[in-house]
Amino acid sequence: MDKRLGVAFIGAGFSAKFHLQAMVGVRNLDIVGVYSRTVTSAKSFKKLAEDLGLGSPKIYNDVTELLSDPAVNAVWITTPNDTHLEYAKLVAEEARQGKGNIIGVTIEKPLARNVREAREMVKAVEKAGLLHGYLENQVFMPSVVKGKAMIWRYGAKYSDRPYLARAAEEHSGPHSKWFWIPTKSGGGVLLDMMCHSIEAARYFLYDPSKGKDSLKPKAVYTEIAVLKWLKKKYIDELKNRFGVDFSKAPAEDYAMTVIIYEDDEGNIVVSETRTSWSFIGAGLRLSFEVLGPEYSLFINTLQPELFVFFSRNIKIPASEEFVEKQNAEQGLMPSLPNEAVTYGYQDEDRHMVDSFLKHKMPRENWYDGLLVTQLMMHAYLSAEKKEKIPFNPASVEDYIPPVARASWEPGSILP
Ligand SMILES: NC(=O)c1ccc[n+]([C@@H]2O[C@H](COP(=O)([O-])OP(=O)(O)OC[C@H]3O[C@@H](n4cnc5c(N)ncnc54)[C@H](OP(=O)(O)O)[C@@H]3O)[C@@H](O)[C@H]2O)c1
Repeated sequence: MDKRLGVAFIGAGFSAKFHLQAMVGVRNLDIVGVYSRTVTSAKSFKKLAEDLGLGSPKIYNDVTELLSDPAVNAVWITTPNDTHLEYAKLVAEEARQGKGNIIGVTIEKPLARNVREAREMVKAVEKAGLLHGYLENQVFMPSVVKGKAMIWRYGAKYSDRPYLARAAEEHSGPHSKWFWIPTKSGGGVLLDMMCHSIEAARYFLYDPSKGKDSLKPKAVYTEIAVLKWLKKKYIDELKNRFGVDFSKAPAEDYAMTVIIYEDDEGNIVVSETRTSWSFIGAGLRLSFEVLGPEYSLFINTLQPELFVFFSRNIKIPASEEFVEKQNAEQGLMPSLPNEAVTYGYQDEDRHMVDSFLKHKMPRENWYDGLLVTQLMMHAYLSAEKKEKIPFNPASVEDYIPPVARASWEPGSILP
């Protein structure tokens, strides 16, 4: 086993900073480099890494120089979706040529915007012989991991396997402009957040003693809609905030998908996922339910152990200090003491670092990212055709959803 891992980041925005907060609880790691599009973001990332005692990352203006720095052993790609393929190929090519010391790469969800891109990325890391981690934090959430262990150890053992998992992620809308341009990001809330929920539901449902492959997707059914962001007031809000005309190329702000799986014994198992950018509550809400014949499980991140109350006489400036994507500063507010832990980033990063140091493939990797991409493309196809779609990877190999081609008509949800 290697002693320490030198980690470099490509991308220094919202998710990159979440990882820094998480990495405070990860041993044997130094943040050694950062590359971003603009130097100010890289500088603010560097300062945060230093303040947190994670190292003093060198700022690079040229990504290939970062990749050939011998201090860099692993790369975390945390840039917008439209750049994932480009950076994945650059990292893989650098590793293939063996100029630097890179052994592993991780990338934020979704792996890619479509199957064609995901497939190319998987081929690139395979060719380079790189270890790869898919940054799907929800399958590392302590409540999700502990919950899965308990229902399988007791519920499934003494009655029968779980038959239904529900997973939902909802908030009031993304923080950066690029998410609102589906021709760039690849889709709306289905691509942005259902990747999480699909994978979390699958995680609950597969038998840990048999592994992920024991669960086979059979059919996918989806509805997508714009419930909020095409109302005039909100189109104007997006114009003012981001300079985006959402009415010209809209994306779904609501998605609901049912995936029917079959296990190795022929049991039907159902995953039900819901995501929205049109939820106004205290802030981001992740919720999960799992049902089995004699048991059930419930998780809701807006029901934490900590609530604070502020009366109407206190005016607090808008912030995200209580909870991610916070919508209010008054009344009874849930607050998460450590979101990087609750949402799973910390255990995810610890697992990725430990795996790379041991030269082992992480348990969540780009093969999972590829499958999730295939499932999401089936979901878009189902919404487009208004049909339940049999799972057939060949049918989505070259599929680009209408949302990503700016040819989606939100009214098409009607029969
Ligand atoms: N796991 C989660 O729950 C979670 C949460 C949020 C996002 N994500 C994922 O993380 C990825 C990044 O999202 P984010 O929220 O961190 O986005 P963000 O806050 O907009 O930050 C994006 C970062 O990438 C940089 N960037 C933009 N275009 C670039 C380019 N062409 N080349 C290099 N750097 C570029 C930006 O640069 P500058 O600031 O320097 O201009 C910024 O530092 C996405 O794939 C997203 O889906 C995951």
